[in-house]
Amino acid sequence: LVASMEEVEETYIMIKPDGVQRGLVGEIISRFEKKGFKLTGLKLFQCPKELAEEHYKDLQSKSFFPKLIDYITSVPVVCMAWEGIGVVASARKLIGATNPLNAEPGTIRGDLAVQTGRNVVHGSDSPENGKREIALWFKEGELSSWTPAQQPWLT
Ligand code: TYD
Repeated sequence: LVASMEEVEETYIMIKPDGVQRGLVGEIISRFEKKGFKLTGLKLFQCPKELAEEHYKDLQSKSFFPKLIDYITSVPVVCMAWEGIGVVASARKLIGATNPLNAEPGTIRGDLAVQTGRNVVHGSDSPENGKREIALWFKEGELSSWTPAQQPWLT
């Protein structure tokens, strides 16, 4: 194992409006669950404009920024916090490339999306941004740290 991959990290994953509208919520959550990561926060949420602008502030000079904000605030999104060893980079791999046409089959965007502006899911790009985004999207009391029960024989 690479040293940095042994770190327990947290990442912010968001199912974007198209993922919710297309009924892909269960499918997307399932991929992170099956991989072995731990869900520590989950809510359906109508994002206010100011929050969308803060979340994507690094992109505010881009020509697509206004459309991006309109899209993210159009209908509810599903906000999630996930925890696990190397979860930030691993989640980005599970999600696939920004442009779904370049995303490998087997990834969420590779399997489920076509357009960059409708790429169904967001994942933090660094452990620092994971922390920043979870703090931005969740209030205190909305996150739960929990230990999975030991079920040796699934009885
Ligand atoms: P970015 O942070 O570059 O990608 P990622 O979501 O893979 O981390 O961009 C954020 C979002 O902005 C991206 O998911 C979709 C949107 N976007 C566009 O609509 N058009 C573009 O040309 C780019 C680069 C991004």
